Amino acid sequence: MALFGPPGVGKGTQAARLRDAEGVAHISTGDALRKAVAEGTETGLKAKSYMDRGELVPDEVVIAIAKESLQREGKNGFILDGFPRTVAQAEALDKVLDEIGAPLQVVVNLQAPEDELVRRLSGRRLCSKCGAGYHVESMPSAVEGKCDACGAETVQREDDKPEAIRNRLQVYEAKTAPVIDYYAHKSILRNVDASGPVDEVLRKIESALKSIGD
Ligand code: AP5
Repeated sequence: MALFGPPGVGKGTQAARLRDAEGVAHISTGDALRKAVAEGTETGLKAKSYMDRGELVPDEVVIAIAKESLQREGKNGFILDGFPRTVAQAEALDKVLDEIGAPLQVVVNLQAPEDELVRRLSGRRLCSKCGAGYHVESMPSAVEGKCDACGAETVQREDDKPEAIRNRLQVYEAKTAPVIDYYAHKSILRNVDASGPVDEVLRKIESALKSIGD
């Protein structure tokens, strides 16, 4: 399955819960790119300036990452998070999934109002060491600025600063939202209201997944 939706809607949060519940691979191109940046690889060096500005990383770079991850981990089920984000990526994904014999069965399109997206993104904090995620209002760490799991400092993502958030939302509308039609035409799109609390959204996703084939 793929979790689709604008920046901050909760794709990563829900993908982690679904992965734990269903024991399938969680494939996030955003996480893979951040790891490449942190490790200073050639891909990371190419991607960093796009990511910091909230622009999409070029298709060929991201398609190569997704392809490699799916071939390595995707044969027994997967949750795609943040991929595909352009129609060219969606077409490339179809080819890869044909090759591994695991067609996409459902795309869950998470939806929330823009002011809620901005609230979620601007309040997000991540542990600088272990990557655990927090939100200053809805999921705060026990001690402000410190990770509950390992005690390291929590930080804000560069692209969660106001100018980059604005750009990400515009890029989503211009380049990523058209992918919704691509999957609506294939009749595998399920819209889910993601504006409520995390557990409520999870229940709605699970109920949408039960409707596959209806
Ligand atoms: P990526 O990491 O994929 O960022 P994104 O799509 O902008 O998504 P986010 O991670 O910001 O949000 P999310 O929907 O996962 O929300 P989350 O669960 O964290 O990509 C980053 C960059 O990498 C891109 O801008 C681009 O440059 C590049 N990139 C990645 N993939 C690419 C691709 N395919 N093509 C080209 N470039 C690509 O939640 C956000 C916050 O809200 C958290 O603090 C969370 O605790 C909180 N929260 C979540 N759910 C709820 C809830 N229900 N109620 C209250 N708070 C909530």
